[in-house]
Amino acid sequence: MTETPEFPLARGRCPFDPPPELGRIQREEPVTRVRLWDGSTPWLVTRYDDVRQVLADPRISADSDHPGYPAQSAGMRARRRRAKAFISMDDPEHAEQRRLLQPSFMVKKMQALRPRIQAIVDDLIDEMLAGPKPADLVAAFALPLPSLVICELLGVPYADRAFFHRVSRVLVSRDTTPDDALAATEELLAYLGDLVDQKNADPGEDLLSRLAVGQLRTGAMTREQIASMGQLLLVAGHETTANMIALGTVALLQHPEQLAELRDAEDPQLIVNAVEELLRYLTITHSGRRRVAREDVEVGGRLIRAGEGVIAAGDIANRDATAFPAPDDLDLHRKARHHVAFGYGVHQCLGQPLARVELQVVYGTLYRRVPTLALARPIEELRFKHDMAVYGVHELPVTW
Ligand code: HEM
Repeated sequence: MTETPEFPLARGRCPFDPPPELGRIQREEPVTRVRLWDGSTPWLVTRYDDVRQVLADPRISADSDHPGYPAQSAGMRARRRRAKAFISMDDPEHAEQRRLLQPSFMVKKMQALRPRIQAIVDDLIDEMLAGPKPADLVAAFALPLPSLVICELLGVPYADRAFFHRVSRVLVSRDTTPDDALAATEELLAYLGDLVDQKNADPGEDLLSRLAVGQLRTGAMTREQIASMGQLLLVAGHETTANMIALGTVALLQHPEQLAELRDAEDPQLIVNAVEELLRYLTITHSGRRRVAREDVEVGGRLIRAGEGVIAAGDIANRDATAFPAPDDLDLHRKARHHVAFGYGVHQCLGQPLARVELQVVYGTLYRRVPTLALARPIEELRFKHDMAVYGVHELPVTW
């Protein structure tokens, strides 16, 4: 028997590929025990079909308060205890809260935002091109776009971005201590709580106003519950998309022929495909979906007992050859929409219609407007986010 591997595992030479050891595990022992930072040994599930089974099984819980829940770090455990949002709850509580938000993230609504998103993208590119070279694409473009959009949707003042960017960096870092995670959570909850009070006193058209009027005033939800929901939306709404924009750009620059094809494509379907394929190929939520079994469940021929932790590894599931032939190739023509980069089952990403529109506009605009876009430093010098719950690059120096 092989030793229980430490998780997360280290990536290899290619910065876009999951850790090579994960590939071996998927081939040889697809459901296996791994050892976490706290010495616990949850199950790691790596095959595409098994990952979907785990994420769709109501006997497997997302409740982060469960003693067997495999937390990503001590800091993340502290944060989830303090501000539990519906991503860490089971139905029916999860479904009740999600239902409140669903209408705000419907595909049609998000499609209607396309012109606004296009205008923001065009303005940010204008500003970047008018500024000095090289520029940091993360600070100049990748982070501002989703931040502005989620701020407008929620009704959070964009002027406060330095504050919430700082706080969410603390919250998604794997190295954050419990004390720092709690302090950041308190700061963000206090900020959002004040905002909920302001919306209650003087409501606008935004989501926090709707929650203040519909839930707070009626007593259906507390100020604290709305603030916890708000922090999930604010952090999930900008961290993920920002990393997809920057890391997707690095990946495309490393595949110049495909980038050229994307840039010159007349058929918008290629852009739609490219978004799905890059989501699959990069799977930036690289820490695995964390779950705990409430009952005994068989997965991939192994018995997972009630109370045992489970990590559904979406990154390697998205490289499973049974679901995606030649899985390690980036192929913008691939039909990849069945990927699990947005998760699967009841917790499947609420914001995916928004993320899709944002990424389609970005990938369809940035490389056309800046056809000579290039890395300003060798790829070996980029700082990849091995230390964060969401993968990407810390900075992206580019020139044109
Ligand atoms: C490319 C961008 C994005 C990626 C890769 C991504 C990925 C994910 C994944 C993998 C999950 C499942 C979590 C689990 O099963 O434990 C999730 C859930 C979620 N995402 Fe996203 N996400 C993205 C963008 C967004 C955006 C823009 C929002 C906007 C608000 C958002 C809000 C949420 C929420 C609220 C959940 C929890 C859903 C639930 O528990 O029912 N995400 N996301």
